[in-house]
Amino acid sequence: MRPARLMKVFVTRRIPPEGRATLAQAADCEVEEWDSDEPIPSQELERGVVGAHGLLCLLSDRVDKKLLDAAGTNLKVISTLSVGVDHLALDEIKRRGIRVGYTPDVLTDATAELAVSLLLTTCRRLPEAIGEVKNGGWTSWKPLWMCGYGLSQSTVGIVGLGRIGQAIARRLKPFGVQRFLYTGQQPKPQEAVEFQAEFVSALELAAESDFVIVSCSLTPATKGLCNKEFFQKMRSTAVFVNISRGDVVNQDDLYQALASGQIAAAGLDVTTPEPLPTDHPLLSLQNCVILPHIGSATYKTRNTMSLLAANNLLAGLRGEPMPSELKF
Ligand code: NDP
Ligand code: DGY
Repeated sequence: MRPARLMKVFVTRRIPPEGRATLAQAADCEVEEWDSDEPIPSQELERGVVGAHGLLCLLSDRVDKKLLDAAGTNLKVISTLSVGVDHLALDEIKRRGIRVGYTPDVLTDATAELAVSLLLTTCRRLPEAIGEVKNGGWTSWKPLWMCGYGLSQSTVGIVGLGRIGQAIARRLKPFGVQRFLYTGQQPKPQEAVEFQAEFVSALELAAESDFVIVSCSLTPATKGLCNKEFFQKMRSTAVFVNISRGDVVNQDDLYQALASGQIAAAGLDVTTPEPLPTDHPLLSLQNCVILPHIGSATYKTRNTMSLLAANNLLAGLRGEPMPSELKF
């Protein structure tokens, strides 16, 4: 039997199968989806949300006052297919009493794995080395050719010892890291004890680390945190990795630091904007490795994220506890 009143759900992208199937089976919802792998144009999004009770969105969809106004007063739940929530105007959402679901934990392992891959790829110069094999630059075994920096006996600084930051530290420990530093809003002795990590200021972390890994959330306080002053503190042999959000880094300052040899190399999974234009100066640098925001990109993780996002949305619409509700 059809429920008396169907709730309208708008989904801004074709999501992985498990989440899609879960929404399709919800008899109390009428689901409209932007049936494409490509982002929805803003006009289509503004049209699609009109009258919606629930919105399932991606990190590339900006949910701001204009969109919330377009949606109207029916909107009760926003479920994002991400752990990051910097694309959501949280103050405005809170003011309207809208609940928010997100996808923490289920992507932590995949993202930490990618962060470690990116760190090793960058510090051991793998893209350059592979290029040399292909372009004939490999002429013989040479003592100092293609040398990079290793993790053994090193100091690793983690900006944001949250779920992913801890999972990265846990994976790096067996490589023989000697000392872990971290920075954040306040010390987290319970979490830090596993790595005997020391809480320091962001600038101290920059100055003392051989490897800096950024895994914090993007907030007004972290926007532009890694800037000229930060890079000037870093060692000329140090390697910088960012898997959080592009806006945590001032990219002009990073370019200067890399081009002038102020720091040794950088690995970025996230940039501003995304995608990064193919003529961006950072892409001209041998010592900068850039990936297209693939931290959580395993089939299993993305499927699990989609299922969690669908279940968050349905629970919110039904007035039930969400599996992962953002408290804000
Ligand atoms: P958590 O909430 O567990 O961790 C966020 C961390 O950010 C906390 O340790 C927090 O520190 C820190 N932080 C907040 N404010 C500051 C500050 N002012 N200075 C330094 N650190 C700060 O989130 P997750 O670990 O699950 O995810 C972290 C972020 O990673 C996400 O928000 C997202 O942007 C990004 N991400 C990227 C992915 C990718 O594909 N590249 C995949 C998944 C996530 P404190 O504990 O002191 O509050
Ligand atoms: C997130 O979840 O915030 C990532 O950036 C994508 O998985």
